[in-house]
Amino acid sequence: MGFGNWVQERLPISGESIRELTNEPVPNHLKRWWFVLGGTPAYLFMVQIVTGILLAFYYQPAPDTAYESIRYITEEASYGWYIRSLHKWAATLMVATVILHQMRVYFTGAYRKPRELNWMFGMLLLISTLTLGFTGYSLVYEQLSYWGATVGANIASLVPGIGDFMKTALLGGEVYNSRTLSRFYILHAAVLPVVMILLIAGHIAMIRIQGVTEFQFEDEPEDKPKTFNFWPDHVMTELMLGLFLMILLTVLATIAPADMGHKANPLVTPEIIKPEWFFYPMFRWLKLMSGTAAIISTGFIVFLMFIWPFVDALIRSKTRFKEASVYIGIFTVLVIVALTVWEAVAPH
Ligand code: HEM
Repeated sequence: MGFGNWVQERLPISGESIRELTNEPVPNHLKRWWFVLGGTPAYLFMVQIVTGILLAFYYQPAPDTAYESIRYITEEASYGWYIRSLHKWAATLMVATVILHQMRVYFTGAYRKPRELNWMFGMLLLISTLTLGFTGYSLVYEQLSYWGATVGANIASLVPGIGDFMKTALLGGEVYNSRTLSRFYILHAAVLPVVMILLIAGHIAMIRIQGVTEFQFEDEPEDKPKTFNFWPDHVMTELMLGLFLMILLTVLATIAPADMGHKANPLVTPEIIKPEWFFYPMFRWLKLMSGTAAIISTGFIVFLMFIWPFVDALIRSKTRFKEASVYIGIFTVLVIVALTVWEAVAPH
């Protein structure tokens, strides 16, 4: 009895059933580059898992050891600088591509019935991605890691009702202390990645069940087949994308490798405390008004984003502004870009 039969007897899965599972026809517009943006954060997330595990072999999450362990990774461990730089650049690109993917879904109206729930899954993915970024930067134990975490915890404390609890839970005490780093680490390296894996699995399962939204573009002839095969055609596109990203990440890691800032000093508040670029709009917004007003308005905006598919359905059914979402979207993007640039150029 051959090895193939031996396996077949124990795992009776036929080539036919695998083909059926993987070979879903996908609409032609998925050949356009902005429709493959969803696969990009998924790919970058895998890069994060692999490089994150390698970094975890060396990283020591305590105030006395964290900075030194990262210095060791960057300056002494073999290819440590490369793995760390890949991790840092893939994080940046992941945030950027999640935002671009969300914009493509928004501006093509692909969140509309029956995909409202998947949009909400997407919002949870966006929040988890940003939180991964925030917790990650805090691990380095540089000045900005320390003060960024302190400012972040103070912002959390402004949430009405549960603010103080959130701050204490995050810091493991009233202020940043020797227990804080392990909290950030367990969130960054265990809790959030597991949450992300579950959310991505749910997101993709829903896409498989519902199929992606079908669009007909004017430059596509009507008589041509409207779909192509997921396997191997679409998988090839995604693999090409993966290869391109790997080259891009390597180039970025080589020309702008992750470096070391000044070690955290709890006694010296830096003159300028700025978060990573993807928190610029929120940070500037928070500076524009009093703490509680800023938190409540931010919470309201996030809530509105969550339920947007239902608000949009209401606008479309009750008013004649069928394309209101496009104008609201353009306005929102402009405001976000303006707040980002403002925060980037403002000295304080
Ligand atoms: C880690 C983050 C994410 C991953 C890995 C991901 C992955 C994907 C993939 C692979 C697709 C298939 C079509 C495409 O590639 O465009 C897709 C579609 C979709 N995504 Fe995401 N996504 C993420 C975040 C988000 C966010 C932040 C939102 C919105 C808030 C969102 C909402 C949707 C919706 C509604 C669809 C269906 C689109 C359609 O039917 O055409 N996703 N996502």
